Amino acid sequence: MDAKTAIEFFNKMAPEWDRMQNPVYLARIGGHFVNINIKPGAKVADIGCGSGVLYPYIQNYKPSEIVCFDISPQMLLELKKKYPAAHTVQGNFEAFDCKKEYFDCILIFNTFPHFKHQAGAVKKVFEMLVGGGQFVIFHSLTREELARAHGEGKDITRDILPSQSELKNMFLKAGFKNKNIVLQEDENGCFFSATK
Ligand SMILES: C[S@@+](CC[C@H](N)C(=O)[O-])C[C@H]1O[C@@H](n2cnc3c(N)ncnc32)[C@H](O)[C@@H]1O
Repeated sequence: MDAKTAIEFFNKMAPEWDRMQNPVYLARIGGHFVNINIKPGAKVADIGCGSGVLYPYIQNYKPSEIVCFDISPQMLLELKKKYPAAHTVQGNFEAFDCKKEYFDCILIFNTFPHFKHQAGAVKKVFEMLVGGGQFVIFHSLTREELARAHGEGKDITRDILPSQSELKNMFLKAGFKNKNIVLQEDENGCFFSATK
């Protein structure tokens, strides 16, 4: 999805975003955090944070910093209504000049299929992570549920989650080592992680 379409599409959805959330999918989020490694004092980035669905989960780990990136100003407005002290950054992540070797954990939740240049986004994340830092792409929907959800809105129909082998290649090309890559899919959704 190009940047202009993403802004228009998600700005329009932002005021209703929280009310639109499916409680079944929301209930799956906690389970994914079991495999996410956030230590107290960690610096965490939530890319494509939307209205801040992940924010309270991340806060639980007492990080020193949570940076919430999103292209949609309206989504960030909704996030700020709930978490006025949140550090938000508005812009197209794919075109952003981000701090290198800074974050301990970078999360992309329910957002990765919307990136136009997915391999480029993975490379950028690799550069942003400190050594030992974790990158997680995850979804509270299964691949089939996701395809159905994206099939319903014509602007996002072509926003597809890459296959596991495609994702693995993106991780490897970016610089992650094979032994540090986890690719997992089950009835609770998709969890793809790579540690630098
Ligand atoms: C499906 S929503 C998910 C939001 C949130 N993670 C959640 O699960 O509620 C996708 C989010 O990614 C953002 N987004 C899409 N393309 C982006 C880009 N290129 N850079 C930054 N954010 C982007 C959208 O504005 C939207 O808030």
